[in-house]
Amino acid sequence: MNSLDEIARLVRQCSDCELGRGRKNAVPGEGSPDADLMIIGEGPGAQEDLLGRPFVGRAGQFLDELLGYIGLKREDVFIANMVKCRPPENRDPLPAEVSACNKYLERQIELLDPLLIVTLGRVSLARFFPGESMTRARGKVREKDGRFIYPVMHPAAALYRQEVRPGIIEDFKAIPKVLDDIRNSSAAPIPASAPESPPAQQLSLFE
Ligand code: SF4
Ligand code: URA
Repeated sequence: MNSLDEIARLVRQCSDCELGRGRKNAVPGEGSPDADLMIIGEGPGAQEDLLGRPFVGRAGQFLDELLGYIGLKREDVFIANMVKCRPPENRDPLPAEVSACNKYLERQIELLDPLLIVTLGRVSLARFFPGESMTRARGKVREKDGRFIYPVMHPAAALYRQEVRPGIIEDFKAIPKVLDDIRNSSAAPIPASAPESPPAQQLSLFE
């Protein structure tokens, strides 16, 4: 798989797990191939399955609003999902489905090579930090296998529980600062005599 387009083509033909049988359309993911920010949701819902595009239903409207708070449009980021075909009744994808589909997501991450990955919801949080609780993880950037991961609650949660909206908005509004910190830490010149511990600016990324 040498390009995001090729991945999308393969996903549309894929029947490597049960979810392939029930779908109307596979939802490979979409956005800018040069995006600094990659967003990983859970899986397509009814609208996404109908249109073959990620986050186009009500949760997607909220995601558009969230991106708007930080001056971004969906074309500026890349939006993908853990599984590319809709789980029946919007149930959580099964571990076997997630693992069958992971090859596509893994390659999307490699090819895109984003500065920051925002995980939306428990399922994509668990891909990077298995067993971690959302309450502990949300709104804090952490490194995993050389990538910066920033977990946020799933925007669909806010459709049923208005009280979680402010937290999701707050976590999104912090993203530009997180991106700046990452840019500054990787652009920082290496001091002639390297200190034992990283400079405070870098430490702040791992709080
Ligand atoms: Fe293939 Fe992923 Fe769809 Fe399963 S969910 S059929 S692995 S594209
Ligand atoms: N929820 C998701 O996790 N992904 C979508 O694409 C749409 C809704």
